[in-house]
Amino acid sequence: MLHDLAAGHAAGPIESILDVGCGKGRWSIALAQRFTARVLAVDLTQERVAATAHAVREAGLEGRVAACRGSIHHLPMTTASVDLVWCRDMLNHVSPLEPAITECARVLRPGGAMIVFQTFAGDLLEPLEAARLCSALVIDPDNMSVDHAENVFLSAGFAIARKDVIRSEWREHEIEAGDTDQILRDLLTVARLERERDDLVDRYGAALYELLRAGAIWRPYQMLGKLLPIAYLLVAPAIDP
Ligand SMILES: C[S@@+](CC[C@H](N)C(=O)[O-])C[C@H]1O[C@@H](n2cnc3c(N)ncnc32)[C@H](O)[C@@H]1O
Repeated sequence: MLHDLAAGHAAGPIESILDVGCGKGRWSIALAQRFTARVLAVDLTQERVAATAHAVREAGLEGRVAACRGSIHHLPMTTASVDLVWCRDMLNHVSPLEPAITECARVLRPGGAMIVFQTFAGDLLEPLEAARLCSALVIDPDNMSVDHAENVFLSAGFAIARKDVIRSEWREHEIEAGDTDQILRDLLTVARLERERDDLVDRYGAALYELLRAGAIWRPYQMLGKLLPIAYLLVAPAIDP
């Protein structure tokens, strides 16, 4: 769906893609295959860069996908050199947000597109629940706000060409397609973590406990309307500012 969102915008072929915050490279590879493009996969941690490089070799795509260490605040690319910036599930962790989005705008060709997929706080997320999640996952609380993110996109010069409020749709689809393993595993994990809280915190420490709990409660919270996934298609100005 996110690939289609990107393809729908492109006036010409998408030849050069930046996957920022690439993680283990799953989407860098999928993008190279879908668009027959050159992809630069960038991540803050060397461990993720190495995992991406490994996945790229396994996929036989060394000629078209390169991985390197870098930050969204200082991208290792020349100005106006990229057709598509792919930014999936990483902006929550980026602080401050505004210079990061401005940096993405810098590397895009005039009229180029940026796909942002991000999970925000839903109306039903209570303040204590939000604080607990943000602390456990090292999320800047401001970045959980839809208004804040959209103001930043606009002030960096982007137009919001499409906004798809996904809510619980992807989770519903997984279940309807018979893929119930993940959500059941998450619920089981949350239940056991709650039931054995004191013992687990004693043995493993509060930070690891909270990290595991936050990861496991993420999908159930999406289904309950406490977390709100949204996909954006942002478009850079057609004339280089
Ligand atoms: C939740 S993972 C998402 C990975 C991938 N985009 C995906 O959708 O599967 C977030 C990734 O963003 C990276 N990251 C966090 N802050 C970053 C920054 N300032 N610059 C570049 N990457 C960053 C993390 O190291 C991590 O690999």
